[in-house]
Amino acid sequence: MKIAIDGPAGAGKSTIAKLVAAALGIDYLDTGAMYRAVALQVLKGDKDPEDPVQVLETAKKAEISFMNNQICVQGENVGEAIRTPQVNRLVSKVAKIPELREWMVEKQREISRTNDVIMDGRDIGSVVLPDADHKFYLDASIDIRARRRYDEQPENKDGQSLEDIKEDIRRRDAEDRNRLVGPLTIAHDAIVIDTSHMGVDEVVAMILKRIKE
Ligand code: C5P
Repeated sequence: MKIAIDGPAGAGKSTIAKLVAAALGIDYLDTGAMYRAVALQVLKGDKDPEDPVQVLETAKKAEISFMNNQICVQGENVGEAIRTPQVNRLVSKVAKIPELREWMVEKQREISRTNDVIMDGRDIGSVVLPDADHKFYLDASIDIRARRRYDEQPENKDGQSLEDIKEDIRRRDAEDRNRLVGPLTIAHDAIVIDTSHMGVDEVVAMILKRIKE
């Protein structure tokens, strides 16, 4: 079984996808974490984020893998390091490089060939798994998405205001929507769910019901 979940930043994709994966007993693949891991390595290696050759080379050297659903770079867990404001600022720039996307899509498809999987991202229903058994597009208002991200960091260790987070999401969504290859889009056969006024359990139940129908 292949399930695609797409949508803009902060729509709740990863929270929902993890729960649906657990309920169905299938794997979960966070494709955003893969792009974030490349952005992290580009930052660390002081590479040019707009240079396709440097970015692709960095991606190949990163040896991205998942262990117990935790993203690793060269075997080291980078689950926290990929969620900083610096990575947030860089990731969409790196993710718009066609050569990187082609390489990522191939890696993601390879995983889906051997496993039942639910993947979340921006181009899953449209590019990575166009033949997915089920496709969902999760959305919510920008205010609600920013508020959720803000509430996710109780200690607010990055010192970002709600307004900073909203601005970051707005910029990232625009970059993701407007790129030429694999833009954020609603696949023609996706079910759109506006999660603005829904609880997590409610969204999960709705998705599971659709899958079982
Ligand atoms: O899902 P998340 O917000 O962690 O994704 C981080 C970034 O990775 C997105 O803003 C987007 O630029 C990129 N991405 C992508 N294609 C995907 C998943 C994520 O371009 N399938």
